Amino acid sequence: MGSEKSVRRVKALVAGNWKMNGLKESKREIRRLAKKLDTGGKPKCDVLICPPATLIGLLREEAKGTGIAIGGQDCHAKASGAHTGDIAAAMLRDAGADYVIVGHSERRTDHHETDEMVKAKAEAAWEADLVAIICVGETGDERKAGETLAVVGRQVTGSVPEGAMPKNMIIAYEPVWAIGTGLTPTAEDVAVAHGHIRSLLTERFPETGKAFRILYGGSVKPGNAAELMAVPNVNGALVGGASLTADDFYGIISAAYL
Ligand code: PGA
Repeated sequence: MGSEKSVRRVKALVAGNWKMNGLKESKREIRRLAKKLDTGGKPKCDVLICPPATLIGLLREEAKGTGIAIGGQDCHAKASGAHTGDIAAAMLRDAGADYVIVGHSERRTDHHETDEMVKAKAEAAWEADLVAIICVGETGDERKAGETLAVVGRQVTGSVPEGAMPKNMIIAYEPVWAIGTGLTPTAEDVAVAHGHIRSLLTERFPETGKAFRILYGGSVKPGNAAELMAVPNVNGALVGGASLTADDFYGIISAAYL
């Protein structure tokens, strides 16, 4: 029970990943969300929005004084150079980001990112003073083959750099088959996966392992958020589709346990 309690004390983070969605007019969703946060009482979790890089500066301005943090969705592993179309962590920081997502399954699939690359990106994020949100998760086929824990374990071990600390690194467990599909694992399955990630972290970082945030992601909605975030070792959520409107995102934020 003692250890359960100390895990519970980790403050939840509810993070929105807007993916390739959002134009300047989307700042009104930030305004609407800020209003809900203001009138609904202090949120019991930290709140983060990761919009496309083009909107970071604008949303950062819009979010000033609201407690809503802004983050990027990816960064290059190098600090600068001839990498057309890529974005460096320091550029995200300069634009107003405090966090960056790395190794999202859409990046791992669409851009063939390996654990080694994700690890280098997390290190680049730290160089720029950003918190790295490292995503891991099995595909549907891997799950059917009974390989969930092996795959997730390999990704955590391979993607998390040596210098990880609770203040600079967050894990997001996102089963690939649950992303954007409306499907979610059972609470028991989430507990097993998060418990496995927690034990890998505590083995590798005995002093701090219990204090890392491990977010669940994949079809989180206002209707299932409370159940998912009540699972042991779930310290918040990474939300795609339901983060695009203030109403749904606020519904999830209000379900955070702490
Ligand atoms: P979803 O996406 O909430 O739309 O399933 C989650 C994510 O990809 O981070």
